Amino acid sequence: MTQRFAGKTVLVTGSAGGLGRAYALAFGREGAHLILADINEAGLDESMTLVEGVGGSASTHRLDMADEAQIQAFGAEIVAKHERLDVLINNAGLHAGEIARGFFGLGQAKWQHFFAVNTIGPMLLAEALRPALAKAKGVIINKSSMASYNPATAYGITKASLNVFTHAMAMQFGADEIRCVGIAPGLMQTEAARDGVADDNWERLKGMQSVKRQGTAEDIANLGVFLASDEGSFINNQIILCDGGNQMRGFRI
Ligand SMILES: NC(=O)c1ccc[n+]([C@@H]2O[C@H](COP(=O)([O-])OP(=O)(O)OC[C@H]3O[C@@H](n4cnc5c(N)ncnc54)[C@H](O)[C@@H]3O)[C@@H](O)[C@H]2O)c1
Repeated sequence: MTQRFAGKTVLVTGSAGGLGRAYALAFGREGAHLILADINEAGLDESMTLVEGVGGSASTHRLDMADEAQIQAFGAEIVAKHERLDVLINNAGLHAGEIARGFFGLGQAKWQHFFAVNTIGPMLLAEALRPALAKAKGVIINKSSMASYNPATAYGITKASLNVFTHAMAMQFGADEIRCVGIAPGLMQTEAARDGVADDNWERLKGMQSVKRQGTAEDIANLGVFLASDEGSFINNQIILCDGGNQMRGFRI
């Protein structure tokens, strides 16, 4: 096993489970020190134990991405403690329930909450961490979705807006040689995705891909490691789809 991230620090939001935990494990195997942040503290503890099990190290932090004061305080704490931050993965996101059902009748408070977590929080966190990211000439990875290309739901709209932020951030943070890219997964099998998709729908959805296998959390984590690594270091300002070819059929879910 290579240790491409030995001596490097990687921060993953939404890392109490699912894709966030998969990133933590993938970077942990590569020797990184992980900073794990989420609102789910029990899940964070489990993730830390799993990271230690693959030979990595980690700290855990309760962070609500909807709360600007918490983001600022957390950012200041991390910058004071870690001179360099090599990778920020803005993975935390709301994707189930009302946000995924359409966009009428939601009301301003809900819209604001969805945008706070999925779109604005990632930019505020990157801004708060900028001094440490700049020291490392680091990379920001924003978690988009294939739904951003078919924004028929509030979810898709928040992720499409995050794509726009990703391009704007690549430009603004580029002044410090910080890269900014997005990862747009198709439907990947995580616990949260399993809860949101009926059992008999998985085969139908797989049929829409030209790659006829189920996408996994590891597919996304491996892409994150590549984009953050030296091998991916000439890639900037791009949203990379990882969907087994679902896009060719028009992103139907
Ligand atoms: N699984 C998929 O098929 C898929 C596809 C496309 C995009 N995504 C995106 O990937 C990310 C992770 O998805 P997942 O499937 O692992 O789901 P998940 O629900 O397991 O992960 C989301 C994490 O974000 C955390 N979170 C929610 N609100 C938060 C807040 N206010 N502050 C901090 N943390 C918060 C949750 O506690 C959770 O641990 C999300 O941004 C999602 O939109 C997932």
